[in-house]
Amino acid sequence: MQARVAVLGGGQLGWMLGLAGIPLGCEFTFLDPGAGATAGAVGELIVGALDDVAAALRAATNATVVTYEWEGVPAATARALESGAPVYPPPEALDIAQDRIVEKTKLRDLGIATAPFVAVDSLDDLHAAVDIIGLPSILKTRRGGYDGKGQAVLRDPADVDGAWPRLGAVASILEGFVPFDRELSIVAVRARDGEIRCWPAVENGHRDGILRLTRAPAPGLDDALQERAEAAIRPLLEDLEYVGVCCVELFDLGDVVLANEIAPRVHNSGHWTIEGAETSQFENHLRAILGMPLGSTAPRGPSAMVNCIGAMPDRDAILRIPGAHLHDYAKAARPGRKVGHVTVTAPEPETLEARLRPVIALCDRAVLP
Ligand SMILES: Nc1ncnc2c1ncn2[C@@H]1O[C@H](COP(=O)(O)OP(=O)(O)O)[C@@H](O)[C@H]1O
Ligand SMILES: [Mg+2]
Repeated sequence: MQARVAVLGGGQLGWMLGLAGIPLGCEFTFLDPGAGATAGAVGELIVGALDDVAAALRAATNATVVTYEWEGVPAATARALESGAPVYPPPEALDIAQDRIVEKTKLRDLGIATAPFVAVDSLDDLHAAVDIIGLPSILKTRRGGYDGKGQAVLRDPADVDGAWPRLGAVASILEGFVPFDRELSIVAVRARDGEIRCWPAVENGHRDGILRLTRAPAPGLDDALQERAEAAIRPLLEDLEYVGVCCVELFDLGDVVLANEIAPRVHNSGHWTIEGAETSQFENHLRAILGMPLGSTAPRGPSAMVNCIGAMPDRDAILRIPGAHLHDYAKAARPGRKVGHVTVTAPEPETLEARLRPVIALCDRAVLP
């Protein structure tokens, strides 16, 4: 039986949902403002803004289930579709992920540790918040930030007055600056019947605020660290009666992890699962929202994912590297844009590192046309 999946957003995440869902018997409709949206290659594309409820209703016509691949989707759009078909993950997850104060408050209420934080609505508030949190600290806009945009690090008192107007003098959050050893993330899936499965925690490296490299599982991952990572996502999925894939970004401080951000969708740090795990995050997201049994989240071995940022690397040079898998989103090259990724798999960590080095070099060498 064919299932009709309506997806709000039609970027590369929607495209990879489509690629995973076609073998499961799914058909897709995507809503995206761009006529050339990547996901148009794997389903019907309705061109429209994500706050255009009429266009969203068109995309959701005859849908078995509605989902979204971008956490910026207005919760009102998602809620407007609930009368026609189930919307998973629950739209409440959008309310939480779109506002950093609501997000961190939710985490804290669930007993999930975060950096210390204070809401800031004026320059006076900011000075008061710096007195509470101390320096260094990091000022972020409550809404709309991504890939490190909408943030300012405050290192000394002279930074404070300039940072406020630089971020637009908008509702913000001040967070303590976390001296983490490394950044991790945990991706998990919750089924309609409440079953939760987690992939192994992964290690993420960023460049200019953009995810650059994920190593899966995180090097040195042991049961204790995996448990700490899972403890930062399981209560959230249970509290929200979440259905689908979710990611929590984490700071690893050695003996403790702090939760930084919630992404209520498939996540860039889970792309390795396509070749690196028994079941990919995309397939398990669809299995979950369609009420199918979940697949195993076990890794097949060590793997790594390199984002292609700005421009694609030399295709054939990548394909000559054993264990390298190319994903080209067919997006125009542009500085800072994620245009593809390469996953590298290997039988053991040493071989992985040897294969990874030339992949990183080729991605670094990719130049804008
Ligand atoms: N409180 C913090 N302490 C130290 N570094 C931080 C903190 N918050 C964010 N960062 C750094 O900035 C990056 C982007 O911040 P994040 O909150 O994830 O926003 P975005 O939505 O842009 O991904 C993080 O991956 C981390 O490297
Ligand atoms: Mg982040």
